Amino acid sequence: MNKLLQLKDGTCRTALVTGAAGGIGSATAKALSNHGAKVMVTDVNEAALSALVDEIRAEGGEAMAAALDVGDPESWQQARQQVFDSWGPLSILVNNAGIDVVKSVADTSLADWDRLFRVNSTGMFLGTQCFLDDLHAAGQAGGVRSSIINMSSICGNVGVAFQSAYSATKGAVRMFTKAAAVEFGTLGLQLRINSIHPGTVDTAFAAQCLTELGEAGFAPSPAEARAAIRAAHPIGDMAQGDEIADAIVFLASDLSRFMTGSEMMVDGGYTAQ
Ligand SMILES: NC(=O)c1ccc[n+]([C@@H]2O[C@H](COP(=O)([O-])OP(=O)(O)OC[C@H]3O[C@@H](n4cnc5c(N)ncnc54)[C@H](O)[C@@H]3O)[C@@H](O)[C@H]2O)c1
Repeated sequence: MNKLLQLKDGTCRTALVTGAAGGIGSATAKALSNHGAKVMVTDVNEAALSALVDEIRAEGGEAMAAALDVGDPESWQQARQQVFDSWGPLSILVNNAGIDVVKSVADTSLADWDRLFRVNSTGMFLGTQCFLDDLHAAGQAGGVRSSIINMSSICGNVGVAFQSAYSATKGAVRMFTKAAAVEFGTLGLQLRINSIHPGTVDTAFAAQCLTELGEAGFAPSPAEARAAIRAAHPIGDMAQGDEIADAIVFLASDLSRFMTGSEMMVDGGYTAQ
């Protein structure tokens, strides 16, 4: 039986993940590979990608790595050429790279604001635009709509203290995704686009964020901030990277074939309250 991310003739679909050196990105790359996709793993931190490529290959998957700064249009063009020359048109794009700044509105500088938007929002726009024709072509050729998964957050839906700039970038991801979904449908593109909204995920990103939240007065210490965040999720814990990765596989696969423009909450019930 074919895997979820293989076509009927057994061909592997192709995927590109940004920010793949990080917690959610690396888990996503592995999950996509486990479900039958060839995966191009990308990050600004290229050195950290070779171990991930080795790990995927050791499990029998196919992967390659490239340096990709998501805020740089030229960097996207180079990655696009590399994946096209090796595997043909891309079928799954995961715009995952992201950064955070934990500061009050009063303390957030214009440089903080611009840096966050460059990576979290502009990066997603540039990637979507860069791969649009290829994703449509792959959808037409394979008979399965291609899929873009954009990384938002619960911060794209509800307010979180000391994260106003970050929340603004994630709200932009959410609304870009919806408008693009309507447009792509109107244009008849063989392509779906959805956003994913994790609660707190136990990665280096979250550890840094919790430390800074503790320092900002959200809780008396980073340990207490961690306990408070776990308790704030009705499921009683933070997520692990693979729990987000599995949802991304679902959005990439034809199991979600009637979903486009949706916001998938994978948040342990955080926004259900
Ligand atoms: N961890 C959480 O609690 C959480 C919750 C909701 C959403 N998210 C989102 O999930 C995504 C991944 O987060 P994570 O927890 O794995 O963080 P992480 O810090 O472990 O990984 C982020 C990766 O993005 C890369 N990166 C940074 N700037 C980049 C750029 N300009 N171009 C390309 N890559 C760049 C980093 O090198 C890093 O490898 C982010 O978009 C984040 O906002 C995280």
